[in-house]
Amino acid sequence: MNSISTATPIRVAATLPKHYVQFTVRTYTRGIATTRLRCSGSYFSNNYTHQPATKRLIHSTPKSQIKEYFPPPDAPKIKEVKSAWVHPVYTEEQMLSVKVGHRDAKDWSDWVALGAVRVLRWGMDLATGYKHPTPGQENNPRYQMTEKMWLNRFVFLESVAGVPGMVGGTLRHLRSLRRMKRDHGWIETLLEEAWNERMHLLTFLKLAEPGWFMRLMVLGAQGVFYNGFFLSYLVSPRTCHRFVGYLEEEAVLTYTRAIADLEQGNLPKWTSEKAPEIAIQYWKMPEGHQTIKDLLLYVRADEAKHREVNHTLANLNQVADPNPFAVQYKDPAKPYPGKGLATLKTKGWEREDVI
Ligand SMILES: [Fe+2]
Ligand SMILES: [Fe+2]
Repeated sequence: MNSISTATPIRVAATLPKHYVQFTVRTYTRGIATTRLRCSGSYFSNNYTHQPATKRLIHSTPKSQIKEYFPPPDAPKIKEVKSAWVHPVYTEEQMLSVKVGHRDAKDWSDWVALGAVRVLRWGMDLATGYKHPTPGQENNPRYQMTEKMWLNRFVFLESVAGVPGMVGGTLRHLRSLRRMKRDHGWIETLLEEAWNERMHLLTFLKLAEPGWFMRLMVLGAQGVFYNGFFLSYLVSPRTCHRFVGYLEEEAVLTYTRAIADLEQGNLPKWTSEKAPEIAIQYWKMPEGHQTIKDLLLYVRADEAKHREVNHTLANLNQVADPNPFAVQYKDPAKPYPGKGLATLKTKGWEREDVI
């Protein structure tokens, strides 16, 4: 594993001070590739157009007894419900350029956030049966992940990841109402992030059928996490955004390892499996790029964007600064942050390890 550290200014707005995000890239070479690990939306989350049921890979009940988690409602006159949030289209090159990364903690707030993520990561590993192999133990069957184990981890991770954006958006919305002041564009980005995470969850639920234990874990985690994050955001929104930034680092790492596992042929059921229809529509997955591996690349790209957004928001004045991902700048010729990965790839202000 190689590490490099760089510091690059993130230009937020002409009127704002420059903020710096210190990121360390961990470049996983073939080492990770051989590592063996254990372990809605735009309109179509509400898409009333009946799609053929996706084949479920992971289930323990007879196929005839498998429940559809979100079947089309019995509303024959409704074709579909459209969303105002259209997901940006990623190119394959952009998705393949996503890197595992880590922003170094620099002050007590960062350390609190990083410590909380490490505790959460420990709990998530425990809940999903993930054991990270020690060096030299990569091929030990004890650390081997199956498709079902990865899906358990994805479902648990996504059920947690969908909470912060909704809490942050809600609290900033209430503050705007309460203080009768503008929000400067943060609410929409936060709510869209929560929406995006929920789409991840709904997608994976088309592939897996969580058992009662996983449901119980999700219930408990949400009960604790929602309330804990709510109170924490009231105290220090900056720390909370940093926490999400670190959480997203873990998400990128998880999906990177799953992709590597799949590429190594350790997940044979996924090699030729098609992504669920809900995912194909949401990410606008092109023909010929609709496999489970493609799906994981899309999800990882989303997580990388969340990582960048939240680390950037954590650098800002939480009250006065506008959301740099939602504003329009006077000089469009200059490189600025924005939605999707295109601005990161082409404008030059970003670094690969922030993507
Ligand atoms: Fe996610
Ligand atoms: Fe995320």
